Amino acid sequence: MAENTSQSHSGPSAEERLPTPAADPVPEDGDSVFDEISAYSETTSLTSTILNYRRENGRTYHAYKAGSYILPNDNVTGVDLSPIQPSFVPPNVSFFVDDLEAEWTYTRPFDFIYMRAMTGSIRDWPKMFRQAYENLSPGGYIELMDPIYPVTSDDGTVPKESAVFKWSTLMNEAAHKLGTGLDSGLRYKDQLIDAGFTNVTEAPYKWPMNTWPKDLKLKELGAWGNVNLVGGVQGLSMFLFTKMLGWSTDELEVFCVDVRKDMCNKEFHGYWRVNVVYAQKPE
Ligand SMILES: C[S@@+](CC[C@H](N)C(=O)[O-])C[C@H]1O[C@@H](n2cnc3c(N)ncnc32)[C@H](O)[C@@H]1O
Repeated sequence: MAENTSQSHSGPSAEERLPTPAADPVPEDGDSVFDEISAYSETTSLTSTILNYRRENGRTYHAYKAGSYILPNDNVTGVDLSPIQPSFVPPNVSFFVDDLEAEWTYTRPFDFIYMRAMTGSIRDWPKMFRQAYENLSPGGYIELMDPIYPVTSDDGTVPKESAVFKWSTLMNEAAHKLGTGLDSGLRYKDQLIDAGFTNVTEAPYKWPMNTWPKDLKLKELGAWGNVNLVGGVQGLSMFLFTKMLGWSTDELEVFCVDVRKDMCNKEFHGYWRVNVVYAQKPE
């Protein structure tokens, strides 16, 4: 799906570039999303052919001019505000509690910076990208992946007055009041270019709201996304609705019931736009 859009500020929107998924007829009995996707394996693995590194003693080393440099090339640093990471991790992985919006004080440059699902967390994305640029080695990459609120559809089956459309619109409005926005993924490409990155590439995806598509891959994506959001809707909403929009917790709980129902309604061909954006620091 990726298209090389190096140094270009404009480009077609996700809707223009991605086909509209065909809808699966809604069955009259039951709606177990997992029954429908049982043809998929849970354990499909990546092949090692994407990694040309030399492997030794459980570590990886550079392949080009193998043996000429003594340190492994595989150390991974993870950062979050909360110490929520598992402790059982490989020896080359270190997690730190840190605020990514504060000044970065890392002592060595990174080869790769990856940020997933950080929309709504970061107030100042241009500053984030400036710091990422300064902390990357020449030729290093940054990649981001974020959903874009509100929910949308290609065929108008998600009504503007539906609870899920109202919810996702209000979530975005409330996050903007907070100084950020749940549509920050729309701006990453331009902001990365402004920060000096090259080979800036935006790859838009559609993540269905539930198992409404006919296509099995999209159906599976919809199943997982649905479980994630139906289970998470109250936690996602609580701060934004009570603190930023002034709702009571009781009002919100009642609203969440309708939002969850809509999220599972397969007559709504809703999807989340998801932008994957990656870019390179010039050599
Ligand atoms: C939606 S979660 C995504 C977590 C993880 N990246 C993933 O994809 O599973 C957002 C995370 O960002 C963290 N976060 C929010 N603001 C942050 C900041 N200023 N610095 C570092 N982490 C932050 C939160 O603690 C939370 O764990």
